[in-house]
Amino acid sequence: MYMFSKSLEERCNRILRDMEGSLTARDRVGIQDFVLLDAYTSESAVLDNLRKRFNENLIYTYIGTLLVSVNPYKELGIYTKKQMDIYMGVNFFELPPHIYALADNVYRTMLTETNNHFILISGESGAGKTEASKKILQFYAVSCPSTKLLDNVRDRLLLSNPVLEAFGNAKTLKNDNSSRFGKYMDIQFDHMGGAVGGHILSYLLEKSRVVHQNHGERSFHIFYQLVEGGEEDLLRWLGLERNCQRYSYLVQVGEVTYQRYSYLVQVGEVTYQHYSYLVQVGEVTYQHYSYLVQVGEVTYQHYSYLVQVGEVTYQHYSYLVQVGEGECAKVSSVNDKSDWKTVRKALSIIEFSESNIESLFAIIASVLHLGNVTFVADSQGYATLNNSPEIHWLSKLLGIPAQVIQVGLTHRKIEARSEELLSPFTVDQAVYAKDALAKAIYGRTFTWLVNELNESLANKDSSRKTVIGLLDIYGFEVFSVNSFEQFCINYCNEKLQQLFIQLTLKSEQEEYEMEGIEWESVPYFNNKIICDLVEEKFKGIISVLDEECLRPGEATDMTFLEKLEEKMGGHPHFVTHKLADQKTRKTLERGDFRLLHYAGEVTYCVVGFLDKNNDLLYRNIKEVMRQSKNAIVKHCFPSTEPDSKKRPETVATQFKSSLVGLTEILMSKEPWYVRCMKPNEGKQPGLFDDVLVRHQVKYLGLMEHLRVRRAGFAYRRRYEIFLQRYKPLCPDTWPNWKGTAAEGVQCLIKHLGYKPDEYKMGRTKIFIRHPRTLFATEDAFEVCKHELATRIQAKYKGYRVKGDYMRQRQAATKIETCWRGMKARRERDKRAWAVKVIKRFIKGFMTRNQPACVDNTEYLAFVRQNYLTRLKENLPKTVLDKNTWLTPPPIMQEASQMLRKLYTRHMVRRYVQGIMTERKAQLQIKGLTSSIFKGTKENYPHSVGIPFVDTRIREEDIHIKVYQMIRQERIKYSVPVVKYDRNGFRPRFRQLIYTGSAAYLVEEAKIKQRVEFNNLKGVSVSTLSDNFLILHVQCEDIKQKGDLVLQCDYLFEALTKLCLVANKHNFIKVVQGSVKFDIQPGREGFVDFKSGQETMIYRAKNGHLMVESTRTKSRAMIQN
Ligand SMILES: Nc1ncnc2c1ncn2[C@@H]1O[C@H](COP(=O)(O)OP(=O)(O)OP(=O)(O)O)[C@@H](O)[C@H]1O
Ligand SMILES: [Mg+2]
Repeated sequence: MYMFSKSLEERCNRILRDMEGSLTARDRVGIQDFVLLDAYTSESAVLDNLRKRFNENLIYTYIGTLLVSVNPYKELGIYTKKQMDIYMGVNFFELPPHIYALADNVYRTMLTETNNHFILISGESGAGKTEASKKILQFYAVSCPSTKLLDNVRDRLLLSNPVLEAFGNAKTLKNDNSSRFGKYMDIQFDHMGGAVGGHILSYLLEKSRVVHQNHGERSFHIFYQLVEGGEEDLLRWLGLERNCQRYSYLVQVGEVTYQRYSYLVQVGEVTYQHYSYLVQVGEVTYQHYSYLVQVGEVTYQHYSYLVQVGEVTYQHYSYLVQVGEGECAKVSSVNDKSDWKTVRKALSIIEFSESNIESLFAIIASVLHLGNVTFVADSQGYATLNNSPEIHWLSKLLGIPAQVIQVGLTHRKIEARSEELLSPFTVDQAVYAKDALAKAIYGRTFTWLVNELNESLANKDSSRKTVIGLLDIYGFEVFSVNSFEQFCINYCNEKLQQLFIQLTLKSEQEEYEMEGIEWESVPYFNNKIICDLVEEKFKGIISVLDEECLRPGEATDMTFLEKLEEKMGGHPHFVTHKLADQKTRKTLERGDFRLLHYAGEVTYCVVGFLDKNNDLLYRNIKEVMRQSKNAIVKHCFPSTEPDSKKRPETVATQFKSSLVGLTEILMSKEPWYVRCMKPNEGKQPGLFDDVLVRHQVKYLGLMEHLRVRRAGFAYRRRYEIFLQRYKPLCPDTWPNWKGTAAEGVQCLIKHLGYKPDEYKMGRTKIFIRHPRTLFATEDAFEVCKHELATRIQAKYKGYRVKGDYMRQRQAATKIETCWRGMKARRERDKRAWAVKVIKRFIKGFMTRNQPACVDNTEYLAFVRQNYLTRLKENLPKTVLDKNTWLTPPPIMQEASQMLRKLYTRHMVRRYVQGIMTERKAQLQIKGLTSSIFKGTKENYPHSVGIPFVDTRIREEDIHIKVYQMIRQERIKYSVPVVKYDRNGFRPRFRQLIYTGSAAYLVEEAKIKQRVEFNNLKGVSVSTLSDNFLILHVQCEDIKQKGDLVLQCDYLFEALTKLCLVANKHNFIKVVQGSVKFDIQPGREGFVDFKSGQETMIYRAKNGHLMVESTRTKSRAMIQN
């Protein structure tokens, strides 16, 4: 198969399986696509298939991409949201035929090919065209992307339908909701597929329905909706009663309208055998063409040709049975009350202003009131108005003075020479003028309504849009009496058939020929001949009609008919009573002409053709309308309207031009078709009338279309376009093909593996036979597109990221530069500042010794601060620390001294405050020591740091005996000493003990000497660093021992204690050189003191005790 990716292959297989699956299903419920029908040339086979499927409620069948739909006349439950989801984004042939499949395909083709499309929905009245168009619209409403804004457009698009239907649809004999105007609606999509706007074109509204309807038919829905559903207040305001019967425009009284057309009343039994398609061989069953069949008591029996002989049983077509006179037709399938609510709501959502809505209903009510206006002839036979209530309401609702209306309805303005005169109407003329006015008001209001809807749907954004057009136009119509309206409607259908032929049969076959594709021509009936018959310039029926309308003199419908006979005589599609052969003549009245339409024969009754074509509204009545205070009426009758002296275009010509316009619109778009058919004339579910359907199959051209489809190619594209779209599928053609497009396509399809019978190469186009081939290619493209998209995405992302990166880098560099610049500037400023500061510093330094001036103030302040800061951190820790004090700068000398003093004091105070009582006492003793020895004895400083103790000898170390001996005196202090003999100076260890009254020298248990303090003359010590003390004792007695020469390690302590105990403070002498002492009274000894290298104590040659002591180091050194 093709060189598609695996997943695609699987998908293709699935599609094939599905198709095969549906083939199995085909046995049961026919064939989904007529193209697959074996007997594709047989009408019966086609019919069989349709019937089979219809009986299984399968109302849709394809012919290629054309959808055939048969009206089921019942709800099938196939239009649910779930169904919509199923059909969204799925290829045409993957699922059973459905209107959604077509809608989805059109939508997706539009998106991928970005071109415009239209869906032509055709079929006769009641076949389901409007329903189909609504289903399509609903599908788009659900399937298209949704945003708040888009939803708004969507709602308006959807709601425009009920409004238009209320004003433009009516119950006819064929259809309870028959569109009485043609509608072409464009839905505009943006490039994302969102429905962003819409536009409606309306075609020829059947205005005559406002004033008259056939029996069993109704006027436009809105009248009944207003009367039945309108709120009490509203009706009161409009002067209406809740009773349709009250309004003569809604009530068709048997004898009223047609009696005038006396030539329509025929006597005798007429059979409509010339409706040949209705007449079947043998016992044909077209009795269900009920509208042709009337039951006994019907009032319009004078339409004798409608009365059939025999037992007719179609009484259940109730609308055919008119009870009595002046009845309003009832429609069971229409609920006017609820429809009123829908319309009322829709008008608000579409944003009609409340005042416009009021004006609109005022117009509808005015038309009803106008219908009830009656005239009576006065003595001269002129029409006068006798019933004022209607005129009163008209005046109120239209905002025109009653008198003005009254005159307007009963007179016409004529010009006599240079004067304008009012000429009174006869009653008939007045009725005619009244009806004309009612039609004009309604018709123009309808046009206004469409314009308002367009205003509301308009997309103001000017970006490019693609559109899908929906054409739902009145279907081919054959009534018992066919008038001007049917003529126009059927002409329109002829034109659309022409277009269909143009776009499918003719152009298709011509294309094959042009492209040089082998082709066996398919014969088809080209209805151009009928179109020409109707519309040809100077020769066509419309031309003749216009001519007759415009010609001076007594032109009547009958003269028009005569003209037709004159001009058309011999035309194969035109026949009249006069022109017909004997047999046909029986079926024609004198006032009839018959056209052999492509869809069958229709006999038109010429009555009213001229009037309706002229659509005349008297000038003065227009002027009356212009005075209206009703905004819509005012808008509809503008003062700028051309004067009626100049004839406006006739209705038929206007319609003809609008159809030309429509054809142009359609020709510029890609066509899609929905062919609607009705299965029976009785709106019956489940009833499949072979004759009726066969007839439709024929005239809808389905057989020809099928044959062309079958023989032809489902798809064709110019080589350039095909190549452009699918070139990514082949490495040789991607990204660019160098040769011609045709060669490129050849290369591409070879690569894809197309089989020879699947395609044909034309002169400029490739033709692909089966849709599946194209779908497979399209699927491959879909896959490939993603790969390409990924690559493009990757490249683009890379490009974006690189761009981002470059931008970031640039930004970073910029920031860096700025930052660096800023830093450099800061640095520069800092340096400049530093230079200034240093300069000031140096200058300050240089002038530091000068009196304070500008130059040095700052420096000096700095010096001060700096010194103080440093000083704070380097203060001495103790009072004794005399060295730690920062050397002050010169300017701080004085301050420093003061600070030092202050600080010392502070430390002292702190020290003093911290001293305990005991220690204080000790220090006081030390103070005493200091006062005695400071500066006199060399080793005194050495002793300062050594604290004094209470005693140096423990109690237990004093001999018990000694202790006992001196106990009474209380021992105050004791210290070990070395005593030097007074004679030989031999050293002896002794204890020196103080009591309260004496000092004792003790050796073991012996008291060697007792010196009473009273007898103590003094104590001598040297200035040097020895520890000698000499106690001078009062010696009166020779036996008494003399002075004591002692050496004590705790010299200062012992002496200070002595002072304290003996309470003698200044009896210590610090002696330089030698000390004389008494060995015995009268006998002296000497102790010499000197400094030496080392400490030595010896008896000198001179008999003195020599105490040599080393020189003590300075005090500072001791402290260190
Ligand atoms: N698909 C459908 N499913 C169910 N009922 C349908 C369907 N299509 C049509 N009908 C029924 O047939 C009626 C007539 O259909 P519709 O109004 O669409 O006809 P039409 O072709 O527009 O006729 P006209 O030319 O008179 O406007 C609808 O009111 C509805 O009851
Ligand atoms: Mg319709």
